[in-house]
Amino acid sequence: MKKTYKGMTIYVMDDYEQMSEKAASFIVAQVMIKPESVLGLATGSTPEGMYKSLVQRYKAHDVDFSETTTFNLDEYYPIEAANEQSYYSYMYRNFFDHVNVPKDRIHIPDGQAEDVEAFCASYDAAINEEIIDLQILGIGNNGHIGFNEPDIRFETGTHRVTLDEETIEANARFFQSVDEVPKEALSMGIRNIMHSKKIVLIANGKGKAQAVHEMIFGDVTPQLPASILQLHNDVTVILDQEAASEIINKL
Ligand code: F6R
Repeated sequence: MKKTYKGMTIYVMDDYEQMSEKAASFIVAQVMIKPESVLGLATGSTPEGMYKSLVQRYKAHDVDFSETTTFNLDEYYPIEAANEQSYYSYMYRNFFDHVNVPKDRIHIPDGQAEDVEAFCASYDAAINEEIIDLQILGIGNNGHIGFNEPDIRFETGTHRVTLDEETIEANARFFQSVDEVPKEALSMGIRNIMHSKKIVLIANGKGKAQAVHEMIFGDVTPQLPASILQLHNDVTVILDQEAASEIINKL
C-alpha cells in the first residue's frame, strides 16, 4: 500500500523482507540516477535486511557504489572501532566489506575522538560541503532519529549525546549486559538530517508502532524528534504491517 499524508509518502509492506527490499530499491535508484551520490546511512537491526539486499544486488551487478560517498549517522562514545558492537564494525560487517564504496569516501563518527568538539565540527563541515542526497533513517521506540533523543534542540548539528535510559535498554540486546552499553554517542544533529535532499525512514515491528504514529500524526515537537520530518519536503516512510498497525486505519 502506498499513501501520501502531510507530504510524506508512506509505504506499508507485507513484512520485514519487503520493507528491506523497498528501502534497498531507493538506494539503488538513487545511485543509478546519480552515481556520485552522497548517502547518509543508519545502523541498528532495522536496516540489516536492506544492507543484505544491497550486497546481493551489488554482487548481481545491479548497482555500482564506486563513485558514492557515505556518512553514517552516529557512533557510540567512547568505543574502539574494532569493538564488534561499534557502528564502525557493524557497517563493515554488513555492508562495506562486501561492496565497492571507496574506503576514503566512507565517513563514520570517530568513537575514539580525543577532541570531541573539534571532531564534531569537522564532521559537520564535511556533511555541509558534500550535501547528503539520500538519508536512510531508523526510528527509536522513543521517537529518536540518529541519536537525537527526546528534547533535542532541532537546530543542533553533529554533537555528543547522553543516551536515554530507554535507548540504553533497547540496545542492551547487542551487548552481554546493559552495563556494557556505552552511555554516550556522537550523532549527526537534526539540522544535518533535515539538510538532506531526500529522506527514507524504515521501521518494523510492534515496538515502533507508537513512535511511527506520533511521528506522522502528532505535533512537531522536540519530545518526539522524528516529528520534525513532517517539515521536510521529501520524506518516504517504509513500514512493515506491525510498525504501521497504529496508523493503518487513519491513512
Ligand atoms: C542507528 C540510529 C538509530 C536507530 C534506532 C532504531 O544508526 O541512528 O536511530 O535507527 O535506534 O534502532 P533499531 O533499528 O536497532 O531498532
